[in-house]
Amino acid sequence: MKPRRFAKVEGKLPGPKAQAVVKKTAKYVSPSISRFYPLAIESAHGSLVKDVDGNQFIDFAAGIAVLSTGSTHPKVVQAIKSQAEKFVHFSYTDFYYENLVELSERLVSLVPGSFQKMVYYGNSGAEAIEAAMKLTRNYTKRPLFLSHSGAFHGRTMGALSLTASKPIQRKGAIPLIPEVVHFPFPYCYRCPWKQTFPECDYYCVDYFKEQYLEKFVPVDEVASYFFEPIQGEGGYVPAPPEYFKKMEFLRKEGVLFVSDEIQTGVGRTGKFLGVEHFGIVPDVVALAKGIASGLPLSAIVAKAELMESWKPGQHASTFGANPVAVEAGLATLDVIKSEHLMENAKKLGVKAKKRFLEMKEKYEIVGDVRGMGLFVGVEIVKSKATKARGDAEAKQIIDYCFNHGLLVIIAGRNTLRFIPPLNITEDVMDEGLDILEEGIAAVNSTTTKA
Ligand SMILES: Cc1ncc(COP(=O)(O)O)c(C=O)c1O
Repeated sequence: MKPRRFAKVEGKLPGPKAQAVVKKTAKYVSPSISRFYPLAIESAHGSLVKDVDGNQFIDFAAGIAVLSTGSTHPKVVQAIKSQAEKFVHFSYTDFYYENLVELSERLVSLVPGSFQKMVYYGNSGAEAIEAAMKLTRNYTKRPLFLSHSGAFHGRTMGALSLTASKPIQRKGAIPLIPEVVHFPFPYCYRCPWKQTFPECDYYCVDYFKEQYLEKFVPVDEVASYFFEPIQGEGGYVPAPPEYFKKMEFLRKEGVLFVSDEIQTGVGRTGKFLGVEHFGIVPDVVALAKGIASGLPLSAIVAKAELMESWKPGQHASTFGANPVAVEAGLATLDVIKSEHLMENAKKLGVKAKKRFLEMKEKYEIVGDVRGMGLFVGVEIVKSKATKARGDAEAKQIIDYCFNHGLLVIIAGRNTLRFIPPLNITEDVMDEGLDILEEGIAAVNSTTTKA
């Protein structure tokens, strides 16, 4: 075990204070929340987190890709404080405020597309998706939506209708919106058609045309196609490079493209949006999570022509664009720019991925490594040959990490996700990667012996 500078865990977890928090949470908070391990947080700064018993952890989860500028970045905290002293809320549904104009101008210029754009604000990712569903239906006057299996777009009834990553998310909530057609995502490591990339020559696109559009989906009734450029909750799965370009034939049929950038956006992949790696410009972009470094804020940025199809009163949200969250959003964008966080994500992402690829060579249970910037998935399997999913092994690894002072969580069933704050420093990241490798090595030796 290498010496630790940042991760400090004393004794067995959870400690006594964390145990008490966990017990009371179970009594008063909805059991619908699923957690990986009993971390009860006392404070967090940058990429380091303290629990209520005084243990310190390295953060490879960033509040699920939310803490883009790390925890309590001084400039974000200052922006929140200053705005809170001026006014905390007034509701953009009925009144005007200046910082909202400024954030909208910034978002419109950061989102690609040489056309005019406008912004709608909500509080959560799901709300952004709901807005995009309503907007694209309203503009096209068409009823259908396209989405992928493995997709995660949120948990409210509309967004949930697009979501298809785990049955438990829908359990007890059906019927949902029936006008959603799901089709397979090009998950190359587990190709649904048992093909190999690139020899497959994008058979996935042909299959969609032949088995969906030619058989049962009237394309002229499709309003929009929702996609995550790199599936998040589905297991950190990037589409192959030309996939979305090949799907662009749908646009000639009047189908609008909605890129869900709720997890991949705001610099996480080394570019402002994940879709920028794929050479297409969507009609609508959904943002949330990292946009305000932890304050609830979401947005859709859409072609002005689409937004202008909405009449006053057609859609709104009382808490959307809360002025304190908007200030946090402005400070987040400032910090990303002035501290070169996209460059950091790119640079450290290359280093981390190299290390994960070395682990793939060394350990039988590391099946696949994929992603961009500080958005990397490491798929754990029982053996490379069978690719049998290592659900239990992935859980053992993240438990090992937790017990040794590193916070890592799982995406999908068996993929470790590496999503630290965009301003993680190299020394903290390296120590976290050492702990993660120790965990993988330990589980690898028990799995391969068994
Ligand atoms: C890609 C994507 N879309 C939508 C959502 C839903 O966001 P929220 O939980 O803020 O509603 C998430 C959340 O994980 C997500 O990852």
